[in-house]
Amino acid sequence: MTDRYAVIGNPIDHTKSPLIHGLFAETTQQAMSYVAIEGPLVPEDGFECVVREFADEGGKGMNVTAPFKLKAFALADVRSERATLAGAVNALKFERGRIVAENFDGIGLLRDIETNLGVPLAGRRVLMLGAGGAARGALLPFIGARPAELVIANRDVSKGEALVAQAGSRGGALQACGYGDLDRMGRFDIVVNATSASLTGDLPPVPPSVFSPDGTAYELAYGKGLTPFLRLARNVGVHGVADGVGMLVEQAAEAFAWWRGVRPPTSAVIDRLAVPLD
Ligand code: ATR
Repeated sequence: MTDRYAVIGNPIDHTKSPLIHGLFAETTQQAMSYVAIEGPLVPEDGFECVVREFADEGGKGMNVTAPFKLKAFALADVRSERATLAGAVNALKFERGRIVAENFDGIGLLRDIETNLGVPLAGRRVLMLGAGGAARGALLPFIGARPAELVIANRDVSKGEALVAQAGSRGGALQACGYGDLDRMGRFDIVVNATSASLTGDLPPVPPSVFSPDGTAYELAYGKGLTPFLRLARNVGVHGVADGVGMLVEQAAEAFAWWRGVRPPTSAVIDRLAVPLD
């Protein structure tokens, strides 16, 4: 019996998820299929109908990508704390007639930085650029990794402040600021670009003074080569620069382990998907 899974998004042509989950299934010998579904943008409830139909026909789980992460959140019967704080969902499980929702983007990012790049956050100064969905997803896992400081810089400071307020007592080392404040905040060990600026080839207004030469600059976007953010980090001598390929594969591995109860090895898959930065 082959269990059925899918990723739903729109557009969906460029998704790597079927390839990643296919490789995971092969190495862990799981009897499962995984396909890409182009979710309907109209009518308003089109997305919900497709998800429910897939579940009703025996589907076991789905990944959810843009622009449906908020709709998936609204649709779920049960949501994890990570998904709740992110306000967005990237993985669903269908069990006993219920839709259970998770968000593995942040934990995937954390695992890539800590395990694959060998850079633990504990005791480090960490700067996250952006306060949109990607930053929200990373928040709880990052706080749990116990950095000495976790600073969220955003053009719209109130969005960062709202995240600090939402994290409440969990966010002891967390603070929000504007880009203009970064000049006097010194160097950070890890700088993560969680803005959507790279998707349009833009650079967030981050001063070069935030980077440490022996630190790490991490770009969430994947397959865009040396983005303006990574180029800036390189130009000021940062040795450790990485894009989001490892995060992409690690979030998939988290979903796979959640669905199948088996953790797939990731390093060969990351190597296969990695696109040279220069
Ligand atoms: P999402 O759908 O991921 O939540 P979003 O809410 O549009 O997307 O968030 C995108 C993030 O990238 C925001 O933090 C946004 O900053 P603002 O909230 O100040 O708008 C940030 N962003 C987008 N383009 C940017 C740019 N050119 N420079 C700096 N930040 C940028």
